[in-house]
Amino acid sequence: MASYDLKPAPSPDGDAASNATFGSVMNRRQFLRYGFNATTGVLAASLGVLGFASILLPPGGGSGGDLAVKFWAKGREDTAWYGAKHLQSMTKSDFVAEAAASSTGTSGASGVWNGVPVVVMYVDHSTNAGSPVTNGKARFQTMEGYDETGKYVGHFDDMADVDPRLFPNDDLIMVFGRCTHLCCIPGWQLVSNSFTDDTWTPGGGDDGGTKLFCICHSSRFDPTALELNVNRNRANGATFTYAGIRRAGGPAPVGLPVIPIQLNGDTIEGITDYTDWLTYCD
Ligand code: FES
Repeated sequence: MASYDLKPAPSPDGDAASNATFGSVMNRRQFLRYGFNATTGVLAASLGVLGFASILLPPGGGSGGDLAVKFWAKGREDTAWYGAKHLQSMTKSDFVAEAAASSTGTSGASGVWNGVPVVVMYVDHSTNAGSPVTNGKARFQTMEGYDETGKYVGHFDDMADVDPRLFPNDDLIMVFGRCTHLCCIPGWQLVSNSFTDDTWTPGGGDDGGTKLFCICHSSRFDPTALELNVNRNRANGATFTYAGIRRAGGPAPVGLPVIPIQLNGDTIEGITDYTDWLTYCD
């Protein structure tokens, strides 16, 4: 199995043990432990936002290491298309069926994976990539990334060439659901505005709809614009380079990390190699 060996910078206090804890690639035991700790963080930070306080997943997501991603529709049982599927495992078929009503060929949903909030989007890349970009049909685009100071970080393909699992080959992409501004939980079409409309434009800019939108201070993220970026691990101060989706606008400094997924039959499962990217809100 391929792995991309991230190399965190030393922590400011040179705490080797701390760096070792958040090593480049977590093994399964570390992942399960991290999930438990992350749950605590989610509970503390999400009160009044999406009601994650009502969920208490034991390590491993609630069923002994279940890696399946679950729908999260708390408070939107009557309005979200996945309202009746709250805490059911997500399947690709769910998203394909919902996208049939979309003019851009997209659908998305909030979820929970191993106790952390995530957003999963379906983009009919397989069909749309062969059509002109001007027709408004969404497809994934890989691009160069720049950190919040404008410094060039690298191209998404640099990392995806090393680990092809980072590219959303199944037309599905999952990102960590914590805003890089102040850690609120962005969502897919939870509010209706020009950023969340069922419209799409190429280039990862701040025009068109189909954005993840953070209601706290209106940050926007383009789930079809794949880039490299840099963020800081709050647990040990180390910076890390990650594959993510582009920040299109608003106060968020950088985009949201991709959590690679795999299909187990039709069920969407998260891959655990990259959970050290998720610590910027800890
Ligand atoms: S926390 Fe998301 S925009 Fe401020």
